[in-house]
Amino acid sequence: MVRITHWAALAARLGVVTMKLNAALALVAGIIAVGLILARVNGTVLAQPSPDGKAIFLLNCSACHRPNGAGGGPYPPLAKNAAVNAIDSAALIQTVLNGRTGPIVVNGRQYGGNMPSWRNELTDAQIAAVLSYVRSAWGNSAPAVSPEQVAAARAPVALSGEALFAIHCATCHQTDGKGTRLFPPLAGNPVVTASDPSAMIGVIVNGRHGPLTVNGTTYNGTMPTWKGRLTNADIAAVATYLRSAWGNAASPVTEQEVAAAGAPVSVQVGAAIFAKNCSACHGAGGTGGIGPALAGNPYVNVSNPTPMLTTILQGRGLMPSWRGQLSASDIAAVATFIRASWGNHAGPVTTAQVSSIK
Ligand code: HEC
Ligand code: HEC
Ligand code: HEC
Repeated sequence: MVRITHWAALAARLGVVTMKLNAALALVAGIIAVGLILARVNGTVLAQPSPDGKAIFLLNCSACHRPNGAGGGPYPPLAKNAAVNAIDSAALIQTVLNGRTGPIVVNGRQYGGNMPSWRNELTDAQIAAVLSYVRSAWGNSAPAVSPEQVAAARAPVALSGEALFAIHCATCHQTDGKGTRLFPPLAGNPVVTASDPSAMIGVIVNGRHGPLTVNGTTYNGTMPTWKGRLTNADIAAVATYLRSAWGNAASPVTEQEVAAAGAPVSVQVGAAIFAKNCSACHGAGGTGGIGPALAGNPYVNVSNPTPMLTTILQGRGLMPSWRGQLSASDIAAVATFIRASWGNHAGPVTTAQVSSIK
């Protein structure tokens, strides 16, 4: 009995039990909301329904932020919240797309809960509608958010290869990719344009220290490591840019190729996700606690990661479901981390493997 109370207290402190209760509440609210929507649209033409922000809010958000937006407990109010009413909606879009954790001060009170990511749960139009609703309800008054703004925030990869290069790489390799006497050219560089990009990805992930000969000239400098400084998606974007700029004409690089060739990036990102979301139950060293030890765990150390990923996605017993709270690439990263840490030695997990689990 004491044990159970202790567990419950621990789990409640983590917000997990609350979250599960809230999920149940959200489901009930959802059934009501869907019922309302169906009742309303029944018999009308459903050509291009623009999503109903209020219904989306009641279905997905009100369990935590309350139907009147006043929040409560660990959940901050959205009504009369300065950040919610900011003219520039970029930060709000990021919060809803990617979730956020950690200290946030609203109306003089500090909150530190876990706002889930909605990236894989809601479309651009739905996120735009729910934020437009939140920004106009309960006395709030801020400009609406458009689906185009959400789309642009959602897909930094497609936009950012060139921008990432300008920010992180051009100081050394030069905007025209031709390099200098100290820094090798990336334009017309056979390593960059090789049909198999894994050697190049390895250099970007891990860095490298000379000497290095490119097209007959030898360089002897240090290429910094981008491990933990760029995500796999960012590395895929910048690598794709290198392979298609300045007359280079090689195939694009996917996030999966980076995860496979550059597992250390996943490991680094995964370590941070584990510390934030999992170590409270599984122990910082994977030695267990409320949850079982993951170090030396045969369920983790298998070549086929599907059963383990299913547990992480769907939850089981006291193990919470992470679907909707972590993106597929975050789950791939944390799974790669636990399979490569504390003496575990199973292979990396790709985003595609996570996404394929229903
Ligand atoms: C499981 C509970 C939960 C659900 C469901 C939830 N949120 Fe949150 N939300 C939070 C928490 C906790 C925070 C504060 C996070 C922090 O401390 O960093 C937050 C923060 C926010 C913020 C940032 C407020 C600020 O002051 O910057 C916005 C905006 C927001 N949520 C909107 C939404 C929307 C829209 C939905 C539905 C699509 C939603 N939330 C669903 C828990 C939740
Ligand atoms: C501080 C300077 C510096 C920055 C910033 C830098 N590099 Fe490098 N890079 C180098 C040097 C020096 C080398 C050669 C290293 C050697 O001699 O082994 C190199 C090598 C490379 C190579 C290998 C080329 C080959 O022929 O094998 C690639 C690919 C590369 N860099 C890409 C990038 C990308 C992408 C970025 C930005 C994310 C970047 N670099 C940022 C200095 C830099
Ligand atoms: C609230 C505590 C809690 C948190 C937080 C938590 N887990 Fe768990 N986890 C558990 C429990 C309890 C089990 C065992 C479930 C059962 O009894 O069936 C478990 C089981 C697992 C298993 C299966 C292990 C096996 O031997 O069956 C994996 C893998 C796992 N968790 C990974 C994670 C990852 C990754 C995270 C973070 C994203 C995480 N857990 C966060 C409590 C937690």
